[in-house]
Amino acid sequence: MDFVNCYADASRAGAYATLEFANTYYLAYRDLPAIAAAHVTGTRALDFGCGTGRSTRFLRKLGFNVTGVDVSEDMLRIARGTVPDGDYRLVPGDNFDELDVGTFDLVLSAFTFDNIPGAMKARIFGDLGKLLTPKGAIVSIVSSPEIYTHEWASFTTREFPENTSARSGDVVRIVVTDHKDGRPVEDILWTDESYREVYREASLQAIKVLQPLAKGDEPYAWVNETAIAPWVIYVLRRAI
Ligand SMILES: C[S@@+](CC[C@H](N)C(=O)[O-])C[C@H]1O[C@@H](n2cnc3c(N)ncnc32)[C@H](O)[C@@H]1O
Repeated sequence: MDFVNCYADASRAGAYATLEFANTYYLAYRDLPAIAAAHVTGTRALDFGCGTGRSTRFLRKLGFNVTGVDVSEDMLRIARGTVPDGDYRLVPGDNFDELDVGTFDLVLSAFTFDNIPGAMKARIFGDLGKLLTPKGAIVSIVSSPEIYTHEWASFTTREFPENTSARSGDVVRIVVTDHKDGRPVEDILWTDESYREVYREASLQAIKVLQPLAKGDEPYAWVNETAIAPWVIYVLRRAI
């Protein structure tokens, strides 16, 4: 499939860099400290698809020694500018030869697999699994299929009614309303069933799956977030 990573774009990268942890994004990050405390031992982390470094900085604040990798030089340039002593690396073709196998206690992937075509997912998950220590975990945050057919504090999809008939593997569109770039982001819809298949192929097992909902007492103008989960968070280990 000819799928272009829409984050390989300086102007989108600049807009993305202004996002922090508010609104719908709050729910993607809220549970990570508890997940790390429950499932991760050690402090060496890889931030796969680190973008402009928001997720990397989040892990650093949790006490992790983090390497961030991405395929977009435009995103990495901003990450490096924000944290000059950060370890940020370009990984063209998702070649991880520069990274030591068996050394990462945690691999975080925050929204990255939304932008990776289905045919590439199993190979990349498999290679990320090899980077883990024996007790290491991958935490993968992805968009739920429902995010593309509803309205949210941070997103709108109302201009894309065709999303409702999309199947796993189809391109879907969504606009981020929290920043100034109004162009739609193109993602690949991928269902829970399809992720389970990919994990089997990549010799990974899901040990926990979270679908974070808002409680209603947060300082954000929720739209559907108290009733429908915008994200799915998978905690994965290597299958024995
Ligand atoms: C939505 S951004 C998320 C950035 C960051 N994780 C965060 O939470 O702010 C997705 C990132 O994944 C990167 N990406 C897309 N395909 C990738 C791939 N095959 N390998 C590594 N990174 C990829 C994009 O370039 C982009 O920077």
